[in-house]
Order: sequence, then C-alpha cells, then structure tokens
Amino acid sequence: MKILPARRVVGGARVPGDKSISHRAAVIAALARGTSCIENFSTSADCASTLRCLAQLGVRIKREANTVLVEGVGAEGVPQFQTPRAALDCGNSGTTMRLLAGVLAGQGFASTLDGDSSLRARPMRRIIEPLQLMGARISSEGDRAPLRIEGCCPLQAVSYTLPLPSAQVKSCILLAGLFAAMRTEVIELRFQTRDHTERMLQWFGVNIKVETEEQGGDTRNRIIVDGEKKFVARDLNVPGDISSAAFLIAAAALLPNSNLFLQNVGINPTRTQFLQTMRGLGASIRITNAREECNEFVGDIEVRGTSGLGGSKQAAKIVLRGNEVASSIDELPMLAVVGTRVEGGLEIRDAQELRVKESDRIRAIIENLRRMNAEVEEYEDGFAVRGRTSLRGAHINAHGDHRIAMAFTVAALIAEGESVIEGAESVSVSFPEFYELLEHLTER
Ligand code: S3P
Repeated sequence: MKILPARRVVGGARVPGDKSISHRAAVIAALARGTSCIENFSTSADCASTLRCLAQLGVRIKREANTVLVEGVGAEGVPQFQTPRAALDCGNSGTTMRLLAGVLAGQGFASTLDGDSSLRARPMRRIIEPLQLMGARISSEGDRAPLRIEGCCPLQAVSYTLPLPSAQVKSCILLAGLFAAMRTEVIELRFQTRDHTERMLQWFGVNIKVETEEQGGDTRNRIIVDGEKKFVARDLNVPGDISSAAFLIAAAALLPNSNLFLQNVGINPTRTQFLQTMRGLGASIRITNAREECNEFVGDIEVRGTSGLGGSKQAAKIVLRGNEVASSIDELPMLAVVGTRVEGGLEIRDAQELRVKESDRIRAIIENLRRMNAEVEEYEDGFAVRGRTSLRGAHINAHGDHRIAMAFTVAALIAEGESVIEGAESVSVSFPEFYELLEHLTER
C-alpha cells in the first residue's frame, strides 16, 4: 500500500471494540449458563478466530455486525462442550490459543490448538508448564503449536508466580483455575499486566480476589480464583481499543495543528502507560467523560498536535524499562517511531518479549527505521532511537505483523516522500478499519 505524507489529522472517530476484552468476553460467556449479548465486539480477525474455535466446541454464536450473542454451555455446572472433530484454528492469535488452552486443560476430552505459521513459531512453554503442574497432559514439538491437550477434570489448584510479564499466561492459569478442585492463585511480581480477565470474571459473578501489596519498593499482586464453574450469562458493552487508538493518537500528536477526538476508548489503568509516556514527551492529550462501564474504565480522548512533538524541550534521552515497558508492550513499535521526533531520543529496555510477538518486533523496528533514514541501535532486550531525525519515505516490510504495519504507516505520514507498506493487509488482525479511518482523518 502506498502512503503519502500528511499535513495534519483532524476530526472525530470511534475505534473498534477492545481486542483483549472481546476475547475474554466471548470465552467467559461461553462457560456461563444462558445467553450473553456482547456489544461493540472487536472487528479484528483475532477475535473472529476465538469465536470460530468456540463454535467448533459446540458453542452457539450469533453475530450481527458488532453485536455477538453467545449461548453459554454452562447449564449443567460443568461446560457441555462438544469434542472438536478437528484441530481448533487460532489463526494469528496468541490470545486465542493461550486463553483456550487454559479452558481446554480442564475438560474431559482431548483437543488440539493450532495456528498460522507466525503463531506456530511462538513460545508456548510458558503455558504448558503451569498447565502440566495443574495435571493436564500437553504434547507438542519443541513447545510450539500445534498443542495436543489431554484435559483433566478436576485440575489441581496451584500457586504460580509468573516468571515473565504476560497477561495471556496469567489468564490461561486463571481460566484453568475455574476447573480446579480448590483455589488457584497467580502471583505477579514487580509488574502488573492488563487485568481484563480478572475484571471480566468479576462481571460474570465469579469469586475472584486481587490482593496488592508493596514489598521492598516492588508491587506484588496476588490473584485468587475459586474452582467455580457455575456462573450466569451477563450482557456487556466493550470499550474501544486503546492499543488501536494509539496509532491515531500518535499521528495526531506528531502532526502539527492536528485535532483528534476519539469517543468511548478503554482507559483501564493497566493499559494507559502509552498516554502517560506521550504526555511526558510533550503531547497534549486530554481525557474527558471518564466513567466505569461493565467493570472497565472508559473515556473520550482528545489530542491536539499544536506544534507536533517538536514542542518538547526534553533534551535528555528518555529511557523506558521495567513495568513501564511491560504495560505498553503493544505500543512500543509506535513509540519507536515517535522516538525519532523526541529531542533527546528514546531508549527502550527490558522488552525482550517483543522478540516473540507476531514477528520479532525489535528486528522489524530496526530494519524499517533504518530504511527510513533513522539512526537506531539494537539490543537483545530493546533498542535506542536517535531523536530529531527527519524520516524519509521508504519501502517498509511489515513482516506480516499488524502493529508494525500501523506504526510505520504513521511513520510514513510524517516522512518526506512516498512510502510503500508491504503487508499492510495484516492490519485486519486487530484493526481492519485502520486505513479507512486514517483516510477520513488526514489532511494532505
Ligand atoms: C494480550 C496480552 C499481551 C499483548 C497481546 C494481548 C492479552 O501479550 O501483547 O497483544 O489480551 O492478554 P502477553 O500476555 O504475551 O504479554
């Protein structure tokens, strides 16, 4: 796809429903008794993969535009899934695979989870290990998908300390915990990952407790779930996806004289680090109409790109690491591009997880920023971008990765000359409306 530079971003829009929340809503509704109506369900291909897998498990699902009706199979207290006849295809979606693995580990039948070539390359040891501790038998080649899961019911309750910051792993164990004989607990040390599973389980009335304590300057989060399979359907409305909004927000902050208004965006504090970082870099971002809906936080976001980020007088290099990085993991490709406009440049460390996303995002960022004339340095766990650099239009390789495609489309808007994004179609994985919305919002 060809992208030309833009003058500014102006107007209002709504981003599609949050992908992380939509996955959880569908999976948890499938386990409930009765029918749940989910409104503003994500339009992403990833969430469509979750619905398809649930349908293969015998869950009746009706979808009309962004409203999804899920008829839960929890009527008997134990989910009455159908044994799937073929492997469940999770497509490109790590969240689908890791969440469903937790559910399937607790069922009385065997099933196989598979995905596309990118998903088949991603590490699954992180869920295999805790699920095996809980009694499931899982076979795979080299801890990669396809995963063959021999369920076990009931599972054994565990107390598991996450060895890495991953909401997918946390959620996998909590969902498996619903099928354990006693209380399962997951402990997060030093970082807090997105807490949508905890919130969604609470919304459906599941007994889940979160205890947070400070320990020698570090935060310790203990999440405890009862082995509780009986809960009732509940309707809900999904807030807009802040990780999708991030690309539009960055475009508006980078292009002088922009004015962007996004309505109804999820502002759960475990997801808003990107906004804080952008503000720290001089962006003018205002949240209005903040409210709580369906146990999540929602608000409207206004961005004014008065002078682009050029207005930032931050002369020292900005360094992000630790929890700041873990809690903006999906926004790091966008921040890498933003870094080229920051006075003193930007360095990201502790981000080794980027290497095992839909692509090796550190490699993809380095390669594409270099093509655009940026000065960058690669580290095993991150990268550094030199600031105050003018980007040059280039041929970008998205490596089939939606967030790389979108981040570099925004880079192309602020660059000089034309760019071509190879693999732009991958945006449908999370944000199919991206190019259409951008066209509507940009002035050339
Ligand atoms: C997600 C968690 C994150 C994130 C992914 C969605 C989720 O992955 O990168 O896009 O919905 O739980 P990890 O849990 O692997 O960090």
